[in-house]
Amino acid sequence: MTSHRPALTLSPVVAGMMRLSRWNLSPQQRHTFIRRCLEMGISSFDHADIYGGFSCEALFGEALRIEPSLRDKMELVSKCNIVPKQENNPARRIGHYNSTFDHIVSSAERSLKNLQTDYLDLLLIHRADPLMDAAEVARAFEHLRAAGKVRHFGVSNFGIHKMQLLQSRLTMPLQTNQIELSLLHWEALENGMSDYLQQQNIAPMIWSPLAGGRLFSESKPQLVTVLRELSQKYESSPAALAFAWIARVPFGARIITGSGKIERLREAIDGRSINLSRHDWFWLYRAARGYDVP
Ligand SMILES: NC(=O)c1ccc[n+]([C@@H]2O[C@H](COP(=O)([O-])OP(=O)(O)OC[C@H]3O[C@@H](n4cnc5c(N)ncnc54)[C@H](OP(=O)(O)O)[C@@H]3O)[C@@H](O)[C@H]2O)c1
Repeated sequence: MTSHRPALTLSPVVAGMMRLSRWNLSPQQRHTFIRRCLEMGISSFDHADIYGGFSCEALFGEALRIEPSLRDKMELVSKCNIVPKQENNPARRIGHYNSTFDHIVSSAERSLKNLQTDYLDLLLIHRADPLMDAAEVARAFEHLRAAGKVRHFGVSNFGIHKMQLLQSRLTMPLQTNQIELSLLHWEALENGMSDYLQQQNIAPMIWSPLAGGRLFSESKPQLVTVLRELSQKYESSPAALAFAWIARVPFGARIITGSGKIERLREAIDGRSINLSRHDWFWLYRAARGYDVP
């Protein structure tokens, strides 16, 4: 399915909510954060049932309740299928995945309750599950869509074959694959995923664009040097350049930021308008990989 993708428009920069519980914000401060995101053009918010030990969605919902009219100005994304390990619970001695009908439906319904909303704009299967029965996932998606609880569906961390398998059982197109990509993790550019997404006109969502902050703290000195040099040339911050490097890949990425600081979200937006030259893109790629292209 290469065309006729029913419209789901996520903002080019998406606010990631994985770390929301660590920001220690009051409900009022969380509400202000959401408002400021919307004012900056960040209208999409990325959640998962498990974030913050299953607490982040409820923290967001509590803030949204302060001004419920904001709901229709935003897109809410959530994910399901990870079952974390739980001490003292024999059914959860190890972390695992659950992509059954019952788990998907009950997880999505819990997300709605926690987020204090009637619908999700997008629900993703969080991780590729070796025991996934694609027809059963399709049945769960159809059920949620028919009930008006979820409008669009996608996947996260899936390989090409698993995306094709699931798509083959669906009546609706998969909207996205949420994948990791950064100057520390560029596998998606080399394993065929970026080509597949471009071919299918599927805009990926990119997670950990700054490698969770490690890009600057643990990075290769060579990479940091090039980022600094280019940030002078482009009159921007190294972080903005790291976003520009991702945005330069021609597959329409929606880039998820993980920062709780508004000024850092602005850097992500700035990065989208940097016109990184082909030469400089490859300069960063070489600095990241540590060797020249052949
Ligand atoms: N689908 C999946 O499997 C998956 C996996 C992981 C994440 N995600 C999604 O992707 C989102 C983003 O992931 P991430 O949090 O790892 O993204 P990230 O943007 O790569 O990392 C954000 C972290 O880096 C820190 N940081 C350090 N220097 C920074 C700078 N100059 N600019 C911005 N941040 C800086 C931030 O701290 P401050 O808050 O102090 O700025 C924050 O702790 C998550 O919130 C989640 O929604 C999805």
